[in-house]
Amino acid sequence: MPSIELIFSDGERFTLAAKSDESVLAAARRAGLELASDCESGECQTCRGTVRRGAVAYADGVEVSLTDEDQAAGGALCCVAQPRGDLVVELPYSRASLLPVRTAYLAVTAVERLCGSAVALRGKLMRNAKLGFYAGQYVNLTVPGTTEQRAYSMANPPEEPDALEFLVRLLDGGAMSEFLRAGPAPGTVIALKGPHGVFYRRERDAPMLMIAGGTGLAPMLAMLRQLAARGASRRRITLCFGVTAQRDLFGLDVLERLSETLPGLERRVAIMHPDADWTGMRGVVTNLLQPADVTAAPDAYLCGPPPMIAAARAWLAAHGMPPDRVFAEEFTPTGV
Ligand SMILES: Cc1cc2nc3c(=O)[nH]c(=O)nc-3n(C[C@H](O)[C@H](O)[C@H](O)COP(=O)(O)OP(=O)(O)OC[C@H]3O[C@@H](n4cnc5c(N)ncnc54)[C@H](O)[C@@H]3O)c2cc1C
Ligand code: FES
Repeated sequence: MPSIELIFSDGERFTLAAKSDESVLAAARRAGLELASDCESGECQTCRGTVRRGAVAYADGVEVSLTDEDQAAGGALCCVAQPRGDLVVELPYSRASLLPVRTAYLAVTAVERLCGSAVALRGKLMRNAKLGFYAGQYVNLTVPGTTEQRAYSMANPPEEPDALEFLVRLLDGGAMSEFLRAGPAPGTVIALKGPHGVFYRRERDAPMLMIAGGTGLAPMLAMLRQLAARGASRRRITLCFGVTAQRDLFGLDVLERLSETLPGLERRVAIMHPDADWTGMRGVVTNLLQPADVTAAPDAYLCGPPPMIAAARAWLAAHGMPPDRVFAEEFTPTGV
């Protein structure tokens, strides 16, 4: 029987015995230990850990959303990764950070167009329910009239646990996108399950570097709004925000208002394919980064589409940022 040693981010360690045909997650559960998970099918990456010793394998037919580079760097999805011999896996969260997952119902209060390609979905939890979560986490929303579930990060801070906001990019033909594009009537009920994810703001009174692509701004707003709700602070926060075109740009007014309470919040914006009159940075979000950002901020928070996350991780690694100080949420498309 292989042994699995799990190392949590606060240094807590567990060693358990695994069967060779069961996943790390299943072995942990058999030992009475709950780990972060969501889809349990290799898609969402919520269960992602890093193999420090040994090797894992995936059963035939399991689609793993990690790239070959991610896997070569030790990345493993605990929900489907099976140990091949003794294993040591590092997990990027502490056990204390795992909150109970609940089902609740959201009554839509508004769907507001933010720009050509994104909306804000706002709603109030029904029956006086409150969602306990950490700024940065997400929930799964069921597309009304279907059984399809989609993950969305809260943009509101945990201090507002019953009035939730989500920033949603509208895709042509997407189940949730088309539901929102149709403009659901206020009061429409959406089932919700969560919170999920280990992308949350670590409690450190230190400068932060945030890198967001498109609606990847949502969890950053939750974090910034939480800091602002706690009172004025001069903490240095560098937010690099990238979008594809001008029609995708939104949220600058919200960031401006936040900077009144958080004067250390520096906003940098890049547009990949801007109109001719754009005078700001052109290109990808990593063009906004400077080597001094890495020395200034001990923690980096990344959120957006997988290629953006991969590029930002690579840039930060090349400029000396330790991988364990990089926290990321990938908006992995459904079914990939
Ligand atoms: C942990 C997590 C958190 C997320 N948080 C957010 C969030 O806060 N805001 C947000 O907007 N999204 C977020 N997403 C993505 C979101 O869950 C959906 O995948 C997305 O909104 C598409 O849903 P849909 O039902 O509209 O389209 P779907 O019905 O899922 O897809 C329709 C078609 O579009 C394709 N497609 C899906 N995604 C993309 C893409 N990115 N680029 C190009 N084609 C695509 C699909 O392959 C399919 O062919 C998150 C994803 C994860 C895993
Ligand atoms: S829980 Fe493992 S990939 Fe989703």
